[in-house]
Amino acid sequence: FLAPLLAVLAAYLVGSLSFAVIVSRSMGLADPRSYGSKNPGATNVLRSGNKAAALLTLAFDALKGFAPVWLVLAFGPRFGLGEWSVAFVGLAAFLGHLWPVFFRFQGGKGVATAAGVLIALAPGLGLATLASWVIIAAFFRYSSLASIVAALFAPFYQLLIWGVAPALACIVPMSLLLVWRHEGNIRKLLAGTESRLGQKAEATA
Ligand code: G3P
Repeated sequence: FLAPLLAVLAAYLVGSLSFAVIVSRSMGLADPRSYGSKNPGATNVLRSGNKAAALLTLAFDALKGFAPVWLVLAFGPRFGLGEWSVAFVGLAAFLGHLWPVFFRFQGGKGVATAAGVLIALAPGLGLATLASWVIIAAFFRYSSLASIVAALFAPFYQLLIWGVAPALACIVPMSLLLVWRHEGNIRKLLAGTESRLGQKAEATA
């Protein structure tokens, strides 16, 4: 009982590392919570105009979802950690990103972290979801729209192609929370005021 609890706690703490803020700070850039969508995420860091910072944010936010799941898959069985633990560890990393203990619980929307979790959890599912994101983003040039659609597809990919598995206990809440966190984006998409991918933030922000 202790091992799964510690693994979940550790994943939450790792997930709480808000790399949009950490990367921006260490590169001497403005805090992403102060401009654009004010979201601490790679999409918004890209609005600063610094592609390297956005890429690093994307990579580290994905890694913090990928690593805990991968570690539990690889070494968990030695400590009696099974599929359910893997699912809850993935979910914990994601929740850390949304409500980071180190950043007053003001986190991001979870897209990169969810991608990392999915790729570790089930590479086929992760890649299918990622491909969906890329296709929607390439067509419509909205990061948020691509994220919402990919998140909605993920549980169905799992169910239709890979079937019912404990992983769903991670995938379904992640998808629901991710879409819910995009409430503001959905409003802007409907109003036609959502900013396109790579569009820079207003100077006034
Ligand atoms: O990564 C989150 C993305 O889907 C939307 O971000 O900054 O446009 O609200 P943002």
